[in-house]
Amino acid sequence: MIDNNEELIYRSYRQGGKRYEHAVKADGRELRFEFEDGLYMLANPLWAQLEPGASFQPINPEAIFGNANPLFVEIGIGNGEFIAHHAGNEPQQNWVGFEVFHKIFHKAVARCHKVSHGNIRLMQFDAELFVRLLPDKSVSGFYVNFPDPWPKSKHTKRRLLKTWFMELMSQKLRDDGLITVATDHDDYAREITENFAAAQSLESALAAPFVNEIGDYYQTKYYRKFAAQGTVYFYQMRKKSLRGSA
Ligand SMILES: C[S@@+](CC[C@H](N)C(=O)[O-])C[C@H]1O[C@@H](n2cnc3c(N)ncnc32)[C@H](O)[C@@H]1O
Repeated sequence: MIDNNEELIYRSYRQGGKRYEHAVKADGRELRFEFEDGLYMLANPLWAQLEPGASFQPINPEAIFGNANPLFVEIGIGNGEFIAHHAGNEPQQNWVGFEVFHKIFHKAVARCHKVSHGNIRLMQFDAELFVRLLPDKSVSGFYVNFPDPWPKSKHTKRRLLKTWFMELMSQKLRDDGLITVATDHDDYAREITENFAAAQSLESALAAPFVNEIGDYYQTKYYRKFAAQGTVYFYQMRKKSLRGSA
């Protein structure tokens, strides 16, 4: 787990028309993020350097975007269609997208470049780390569309949507925020249902633990692929403290 007490300096500057963001660990080893045209952060394969016990200061989204607009986070952006659609149509929203897979990350960058109002940051990085670095109660919405199902039983432990991660998202969520998840995978859906039920701080914002359709939901590449083949499960979770007030 990340210990936030140790110092990490996080700074940004412009050089030769480019904006750079640097994060420097207390031990002096530098983690470097590059913004290109202010649009995205490209992390070197830093996860290889992040040993257990590594520690960081929280990221300040207002400093990154230069405003306090509502923040939305998409995990596993794939080719970037979903984030490009939403951020492109909502200039007053800030969007951060995470993707670990280099090749499609660059497709997403190209797509987002075309539509960004300066309100998108894409990071080629494991969301599990960066969600931890966000300030508590800072996120208006998390989206996880078709997370990797890791279908082999010996790999299911690699699935992203474990109860601890749901609780982490909840901690980062504003009181009126929502966590939205879509999957087509029956066994992962069963696990997600169980894990959300076990997440003490969350409850379904829907009439049931999940639904199979949400009107007007942007259909990503995987949605189009899988909805045609079978059932899609949608989850929309809110903080339990909102019970009765929504
Ligand atoms: C099945 S694809 C779905 C892509 C897209 N959301 C869609 O609906 O078309 C899942 C994506 O999540 C990415 N991913 C998996 N774990 C991740 C993590 N911890 N952080 C960021 N991205 C991740 C994978 O590389 C992959 O591109």
